Amino acid sequence: MKINKLKSLIAGTALAAGVGFSATAQSSLAHTGDWKSYSKDATIEAKVDSLLALMTLEEKIGQMTQFPGKTAVTGPAIQDDYKEYMEKGLVGSMFNVFGAKGLRQLQQYAVENSRLNIPVLFAADIIHGYKTTFPIPLAESCSWDLELMERSARIAAEEGTAAGISWTFAPMIDTSRDPRWGRVMEGAGEDVYLGKKVAEARVKGFQGIESWEDFGKPNTMLATAKHFVAYGAAEAGRDYNTTDMSDRTLRETYFPPFEAAIDAGVATFMTSFNEIGGVPCTGSKYLYSDVLRGEWDFRGTVVTDYTAINEMVDHGFAEDLKEAAQKSLDAGIDMDMNGAAFIKHVGALIEEGKITEDHVNQAAARILELKFILGLFEDPYRYMDEEREAATIEKAEYFEEARRNAQRSIVLLKNENNTLPLAKKEKKKVALIGPFVKERMSLNGDWAIKGDRKKSVTLEEGLMAAYKKSKVDFLYAQGATLPRKIEAENAKTAEEIQSKVEEALAVAQDADEIIVAAGEFWKWTGEAASRTDITLPKSQKALLRALKELNKPITLVLMGGRPLDLSWEEENMDAILETWYLGTQAGHAIADVISGDYNPSGKITLTFPRNVGQIPIYYNHKNTGRPEDPAKWADYKSTYLDVPNTPLYPFGFGLSYASFEYKNLNLSSDEFSKGGNITASIEVTNTSKVDGEEIVQLYIRDIAGSVTRPVKELKGFEKVMIKAGETKTIEFSIDESTIEFLTFNNVVAPEAGKFNLWIGTNSADISNAASFRYVENANN
Ligand code: NOJ
Repeated sequence: MKINKLKSLIAGTALAAGVGFSATAQSSLAHTGDWKSYSKDATIEAKVDSLLALMTLEEKIGQMTQFPGKTAVTGPAIQDDYKEYMEKGLVGSMFNVFGAKGLRQLQQYAVENSRLNIPVLFAADIIHGYKTTFPIPLAESCSWDLELMERSARIAAEEGTAAGISWTFAPMIDTSRDPRWGRVMEGAGEDVYLGKKVAEARVKGFQGIESWEDFGKPNTMLATAKHFVAYGAAEAGRDYNTTDMSDRTLRETYFPPFEAAIDAGVATFMTSFNEIGGVPCTGSKYLYSDVLRGEWDFRGTVVTDYTAINEMVDHGFAEDLKEAAQKSLDAGIDMDMNGAAFIKHVGALIEEGKITEDHVNQAAARILELKFILGLFEDPYRYMDEEREAATIEKAEYFEEARRNAQRSIVLLKNENNTLPLAKKEKKKVALIGPFVKERMSLNGDWAIKGDRKKSVTLEEGLMAAYKKSKVDFLYAQGATLPRKIEAENAKTAEEIQSKVEEALAVAQDADEIIVAAGEFWKWTGEAASRTDITLPKSQKALLRALKELNKPITLVLMGGRPLDLSWEEENMDAILETWYLGTQAGHAIADVISGDYNPSGKITLTFPRNVGQIPIYYNHKNTGRPEDPAKWADYKSTYLDVPNTPLYPFGFGLSYASFEYKNLNLSSDEFSKGGNITASIEVTNTSKVDGEEIVQLYIRDIAGSVTRPVKELKGFEKVMIKAGETKTIEFSIDESTIEFLTFNNVVAPEAGKFNLWIGTNSADISNAASFRYVENANN
């Protein structure tokens, strides 16, 4: 084994530590044969069986092994070490190597030089676009536009599959209610109902299929439901940290998007790094055997997260890697990402009788099934066509869609005195201030796998294009620098900060109004990017305070990957636009909103707290026995002494340049019974002079249950375009599926009783309320 060469190729990875097979395991390298002699009409199961019957134990374990790739500037190169592994049939899958040409070479080597010619499965983290970069997933979820999300995932898949990738490690569907956690940027926010819908849309978009039989069609891609499970519940928002919770909470809050992903046909699952109740997920029989395979009947493949098997030793769940491998196999894991645990220890574990070869057969069969359904045995190069790659990547229509998507991901959080939009026709001087005016590198956010950061459109470029023929004159000052590291920001001296502020003041003094672009450097959110202080960086805050003294209208354009504590900004800024990281077309989309060419329609999917001390804060919390009810409790109630219980901006909140009035909430009946339903309707009028889209939201509360229910739960929404002056009637159907929940008896069922219902513009809007009852039938 050329360990040294291997080390250079995959330096820093667990695989670099070398691979070893016992003599007995190797001696099973016995049979060869023409396994392809199966009939063309044979079922995939039969094909898998016929192939498995010819495979050695070593080859089967090879299928269960995923190697990290290394892409040089010009694409992945076949290096001698890979050759050796490939020749032995040990490379089941590789990840994060890209490009049709290079991957074709790798594939060709694997197929032509291994005994059974089994193709390699190439995977990658294609999260929010491949080359054409879409808004970060949290931003996109604020559009509440499921078709939009499906389309962006499809475009990512079209580009990715053209570049040789047939498996993405997305969507990330971890519910999270903690903006300290850097990976909130990668999910769909705090809500279970919305989270399920987004999971479905993204799985459908990436995979591009109706059923698994369609995987053989062009441009299909396997999706991954990750990270199973409760990774977003990390204690104190610190990445990879412990989680602990009741099974009820797990099932009510964290499982549902994963079940929805299965319903949408997701092909693979990824484990999560965290432990729950003392058991690391990657070694959890309960999660993978009992729930995923048992209760949910999932027939796809489970891959670990990166070295998650190895980490079970650090968790204190296994004494060594061998025991960790055993535990993860016992749990039902199929593929080891970058950990070399299987390849090193499974042979010995079988010899010692600690696991059976059935474990291996089952896992290898699942992985081979993926390769068969993708059609890789018929044509291992299906995804590796350089011409198609060149014709597909960064098509003009993808850029247009990225801009549409980015417009719809923006959330207008405040707009006092119609500060926005900034009219093109009025003669004005506008000072553009802040480190994000010209910032380009941050715009794609984290997990922008191949998006060219140097190509993304800055705010300045977007504004210059939008206002080219306008009467607006823009002035510029940076006002604060943007260090890559938080330590560098914290180390800034008062003098350094002040001198940048002075520059900005000198420019802003001459202006009629000010636009400040502020936020977090992109590395401050994402994986391993948790923060305990979620306010704006101190130099940017100093800048805002100083600008405020000028007494001119200020619009704050925010960029970042998490809800920040904006309490001061809400009080002192005139308009606030949350733009997250919007990807390739960021600057254009923001300019579209600032100018009013696009009327903002996004609503936040993660609560903005008043301060970090309120976290976790989410709209669908429980009431407690001592709620904040002035009629009942003067004090000794569940409140804080220093801030209200309410958030700064509630879930579902977002403004428009239009204004909407909700009235005439009507229920078709105030009661329904088993098998029945009622319709709730409401009239929404656009009372303004501009057309606008509104996201109409339905919430219910089950007043009393066999277990307590949240104060509110989202149960439906509709995004509608309402023209100026127009009224639209929006209807929601309410039936047992709307009110069912995991009852005390651990069954999902509706319970008879009273329910409150609200239809409104966000989760805190209680102006249109009604009640209904669900009654047991006489014969129940
Ligand atoms: C670790 C991350 O947790 C996971 O989401 C990702 O897919 C893998 N690394 C591979 O990059």
